[in-house]
Amino acid sequence: MSNRLADLRIRPRRLRRSEARRRLVRETTLAPEDLVMPYFVIPGRRKREPVPSMPGVERLTVDELVREAGILVRLGIPGLILFGLPARKDAAGSEAWSPSGAVQQAVRAVKRAVPDLAVLTDVCLCEYTSHGHCGVLRGGEVDNDATLPLLAKTALSHARAGADLVAPSDMMDGRVRAIRQALDRSGFKGTGILAYAAKYASGFYGPFREAAGSTPRSGDRRGYQMDPPNAREAMREIALDLEEGADAVMVKPALAYLDVIRRARDRFDAPLAAYNVSGEYAMVKAAAAAGWLDERRIVLEILTGIKRAGADFILTYHAKDAARWLKA
Ligand code: PBG
Repeated sequence: MSNRLADLRIRPRRLRRSEARRRLVRETTLAPEDLVMPYFVIPGRRKREPVPSMPGVERLTVDELVREAGILVRLGIPGLILFGLPARKDAAGSEAWSPSGAVQQAVRAVKRAVPDLAVLTDVCLCEYTSHGHCGVLRGGEVDNDATLPLLAKTALSHARAGADLVAPSDMMDGRVRAIRQALDRSGFKGTGILAYAAKYASGFYGPFREAAGSTPRSGDRRGYQMDPPNAREAMREIALDLEEGADAVMVKPALAYLDVIRRARDRFDAPLAAYNVSGEYAMVKAAAAAGWLDERRIVLEILTGIKRAGADFILTYHAKDAARWLKA
């Protein structure tokens, strides 16, 4: 009874006493190869337009993007994902599948200049439709089945340009199957699909919609994106997308959905991605600019947490900064 503390045999602090000991027993590691950098591509040449709600993020023309792609390779980042802004929008979002669209041109240019970088493309219509919804509107609702062929055409145009993986983010039922069929029929059996399988109707996409000009003119996306309280439903969505032929699946957003990432990891063996979205980025940048948080520490902690939850790779606007910090 006299000195019980001195009798402690198990002392977890022993393994925390130096950085070398901590490194030895570290369970989760973060590396540049875990990261994918998102980019917004605009028509034109030699332009970089800052996105006010996402400090450090710029919308780029294809030539500027190619320069960025070279930087990613030097930083050890294996891939990027592209979002496009059209010159003109219409009700069907037809510029989404134009062979001369900003994304299609960007894919060709990046694959030519930096062939070792994996080029992913977001497949969705919301940036291209005049109403801002992710599909065709019929009677005020997004018509699922009428949207599928348009998504398939869009994915095919990205594959033709040379995309490594197409990533449908629209949340229409059956879109992975429709895209897989379209790719296979046109000889693109080798093009992969990363499905935004569990994508929630989230307030965290606000800054992205400013960047992409894709805020719905009326209504919201709750009729097709998932209801935030549901996690079991996410498992059904993931199972369906894998059955339909997805090569990898994604949970989005990341931070408010770490439990969903963990469940998905425990349940499925397919590669799992997480999207650390625009609103998550904006919060960190705002707090860091105010001097309230140490940006470097917070970013690495957040990304490590997403990996620890079970993600194999992370789409994040912090990718370039994080890779630099990890290399330093
Ligand atoms: C397109 C799409 C969105 C995001 C990725 N693809 C916006 C949305 O669904 O409204 C969000 C990405 C981010 O917030 O960083 N549908």
